[in-house]
Amino acid sequence: MGSERNPHVYDRTPKVTVSNFQRDASESNMITIRPEQPDDIADVRAINEAAFGEPAEATIVDSLRNACPDAVSLVAVEDGKILGHIFFSPVFISSGHGIKEGMGLAPMAVLPKRQRQGIGSMLVQAGIDAMRERNCPFIIVLGHPEYYPRFGFVPASQHGLSCQWNGVPDEAFMVLILDDSAMAGVSGTARYRDEFDQAM
Ligand SMILES: CC(C)(COP(=O)(O)OP(=O)(O)OC[C@H]1O[C@@H](n2cnc3c(N)ncnc32)[C@H](O)[C@@H]1OP(=O)(O)O)[C@@H](O)C(=O)NCCC(=O)NCCS
Repeated sequence: MGSERNPHVYDRTPKVTVSNFQRDASESNMITIRPEQPDDIADVRAINEAAFGEPAEATIVDSLRNACPDAVSLVAVEDGKILGHIFFSPVFISSGHGIKEGMGLAPMAVLPKRQRQGIGSMLVQAGIDAMRERNCPFIIVLGHPEYYPRFGFVPASQHGLSCQWNGVPDEAFMVLILDDSAMAGVSGTARYRDEFDQAM
């Protein structure tokens, strides 16, 4: 897949400018979304394992962090403690317009005892902002169909996009188009990096 990639599809310069993305999650504590740092790696793994109850998603993150410099990894931090994590890695759509590169949101995890307090929403919104900043034309997500539409995601089939894996419910495979003109006429199968297949 690496040989198919077009490095000029969009600006990959790693400029995540979300370090000041903050919100009062409670009366006293401030939660900040910032790019992952090397010291966060063990906590990020632990949060993914705890949230998913299995190691597969954490393993995908560890593999892609090493293999894919274009990946974006953000963490939610409160009082120096990491509570949540979101990860984006390149996704490729092969169509009559050549190969269009965007990003896949996966995985995302919030510490179980801190779920349903808005932390996931902060991570998704900061991630979308970071992807816009990079001029990423689209974000794909395979996930809860009742969660992601609140951020603007719609079933990817509405844009002629399909999932590489069989048996995925139509409503669970979603896309957020960030650049309509770049995506005009683009349709086909969206493919994640091979690390996803290898870890599952
Ligand atoms: C999904 C997840 C990241 C959301 O983070 P969060 O901080 O709980 O999300 P928010 O507080 O911003 O939003 C809460 C909303 O998320 C939705 N939600 C949370 N967990 C959900 C789940 N397991 N299934 C479906 N929807 C869920 C609900 O709509 C909830 O709203 P409600 O409390 O009014 O019912 C978190 O629940 C998690 O880590 N889950 C386990 C791992 C996972 O499923 N990751 C996502 C894979 S697509």
